[in-house]
Amino acid sequence: MSGFVEKPEPVEVPGLEHLHTGKVRDLYRDGAGRLVMVASDRVSAYDWVLPTEIPDKGRVLTQLSLWWFERLTDLAPNHVLSTELPPGAPADWEGRTLICRSLDMVPVECVARGYLTGSGLAEYEQTRTVCGLALPEGLTDGSELPSPIFTPAAKAEVGEHDENVSYEEVARQVGAETAAQLRQATLAVYGRARDIARDRGIILADTKFEFGFADGELVLADEVLTPDSSRFWPADSWQPGRAQPSFDKQFVRDWLTSPASGWDRKGELPPPELPGDVVDRTRSKYVEAYERLTGMSWQ
Ligand SMILES: Nc1ncnc2c1ncn2[C@@H]1O[C@H](COP(=O)(O)OP(=O)(O)O)[C@@H](O)[C@H]1O
Ligand SMILES: [Mg+2]
Repeated sequence: MSGFVEKPEPVEVPGLEHLHTGKVRDLYRDGAGRLVMVASDRVSAYDWVLPTEIPDKGRVLTQLSLWWFERLTDLAPNHVLSTELPPGAPADWEGRTLICRSLDMVPVECVARGYLTGSGLAEYEQTRTVCGLALPEGLTDGSELPSPIFTPAAKAEVGEHDENVSYEEVARQVGAETAAQLRQATLAVYGRARDIARDRGIILADTKFEFGFADGELVLADEVLTPDSSRFWPADSWQPGRAQPSFDKQFVRDWLTSPASGWDRKGELPPPELPGDVVDRTRSKYVEAYERLTGMSWQ
């Protein structure tokens, strides 16, 4: 079992056509055919969209994405056209809404990894490969890789796991030329972001991008380099050989899998509401990621 504990009803705004309710974002089309992307405060864990929201999360993710997009424009054009609120939109959309180019999305999750953990580590332990790429012996949870690698995944439906795929599989699916462009752009953007984060004492362990096409041009879309799409680790406590502390929903995951939640991850029932202190601490982590990366304070 997985998916939405409660699928929210889309907000109706005159002049906007609701297209899709994603795990975190609600998508609309405006009268000019542009995509209106609204990041909610929803949080997902263990393939569930939880019944409890994390206040300001959608704003933090949106502002952090914008900050990164600005620093990446020479490497990849991005989909943002405007941050102006559509007329008649609720005030709550302020800060969480992006008007974007509507793209023909490439159905590949473009993951770059500079460090080994998560599904990469799981595959490595079985076969000494990640997405079919051979890696040296002796790596452990949190090890830095000899050089960053492109480890694409097939995008799954809500409630399903993304599945790692080989580069060859991506090339078969989208064509050799597009696959090469995706890999090149993913690794270039990862490299830039890793260096920026490193200057701020943060390791960008891995991250996921989504790209789409408009007028034959490959464009960076969705959110970028947020705690929802990336693993950020404080550099000063990095220690390979164990799970690293990270700037994301670790408190949510830890609580859900603790006896306190009473929830069985492998069972049939949806996860329960989060307690207030888990919400507060998770909100603080998102804000801390924003503040440490951008050097600006979140008000
Ligand atoms: N510029 C764009 N044009 C079309 N679709 C986009 C664009 N940017 C992002 N998307 C899509 O919008 C959705 C974002 O919502 P989100 O809640 O993150 O979805 P998901 O549940 O798929 O992670 C994703 O399906 C993503 O592929
Ligand atoms: Mg998403």
